[in-house]
Amino acid sequence: SNPFTIGNTAQERGFSYVPDQYVIPSSSRPSLDPEVANVPVIDIGKLREEGVQRANAIQEIGNACRDVGFFQIVNHGISQSVLDGALSVASDFFKLPTSEKAKFMSSDVCKPVRYATSIKDGIDKFQYWRVFLKHYANPLAEWIDLWPKNPPEYREKMGTYSAEIKNLSLNIMGAVTESLGLGPKYLRNKIGDGMQVMAVNCYPPCPRPEMTLGLPPHSDYSCLTIILQSSPGLEILDKRDGNWRLVPKLNGALQVHVGDHFEVLSNGIYKSVVHRAVLNSEKTRISIASLHSLGMDEKMGTAKELQDDNLPKKYRESSFRDFLNFISKNDLGEGKSFLDTLK
Ligand code: SIN
Ligand code: FE2
Repeated sequence: SNPFTIGNTAQERGFSYVPDQYVIPSSSRPSLDPEVANVPVIDIGKLREEGVQRANAIQEIGNACRDVGFFQIVNHGISQSVLDGALSVASDFFKLPTSEKAKFMSSDVCKPVRYATSIKDGIDKFQYWRVFLKHYANPLAEWIDLWPKNPPEYREKMGTYSAEIKNLSLNIMGAVTESLGLGPKYLRNKIGDGMQVMAVNCYPPCPRPEMTLGLPPHSDYSCLTIILQSSPGLEILDKRDGNWRLVPKLNGALQVHVGDHFEVLSNGIYKSVVHRAVLNSEKTRISIASLHSLGMDEKMGTAKELQDDNLPKKYRESSFRDFLNFISKNDLGEGKSFLDTLK
């Protein structure tokens, strides 16, 4: 019988070897001893100050978006207990019996709450060593009743975290548009009403972490993604030398990715970062990615202020729904990128 059906993945069966469908070509395999990335760590408490402190933080954010497309943030104002609460209910969710999680299983990428074991189980050629729960989170009151009731604290703990991350994302996105010379309110209303997708990821220990990946290389479609992780495992591609580097764990910090929609808005001045998830043989890793974008059908285009004869518009506009249509037809593992379809 085929073990790769929904709810019956290699990970959930606790295989002690890596089945063929999880093995990636040798040229794309990760290193067991990766270099560590030297990524900017930004004290965003300075965004709450006035004058030169705030201006410095905005400049640091702008530089990070331009040079790396990625940064870590500290002093972000979300308490350790809220962060720990979100990681603990996430971890408890994945420990539930398969029958409980199966209530949320679907291969339809448009479902507002969805548990799955790969990008599209049984359809994708390649499988990845990950199980995940995805759910919409903004406005919270509209979606939270669809979230898991089990574990019993899931809605409360994940809801608090989601709402605090949403607020934080508005402040960071304001700083990003300000750093582009567009002002802090440029996207405020559209983003305030926009989509927030929480991707709650679980990467079980893998017996041969050098043979497979938790997630293949990709950039996020979002404007901005904010990630909380339980342990290291996120790698980013350095476009300058083509090397993958591991993002170091910094206690209490959150990771921020520039997504495709900010690359489009900025006319390519800011770069969406290409990243992947790597595995380890010892312990389960949990990550919670919160993806922020405009509304489902709201098109993100390039700011008029950032195009002229010297820098003509480089990208077509697109919406979150356009991304969903793309992802339902394409296999992330085959290296096609949504952003490339906009060029
Ligand atoms: C993601 O790319 O959405 C998740 C990466 C991670 O697990 O850190
Ligand atoms: Fe991602």
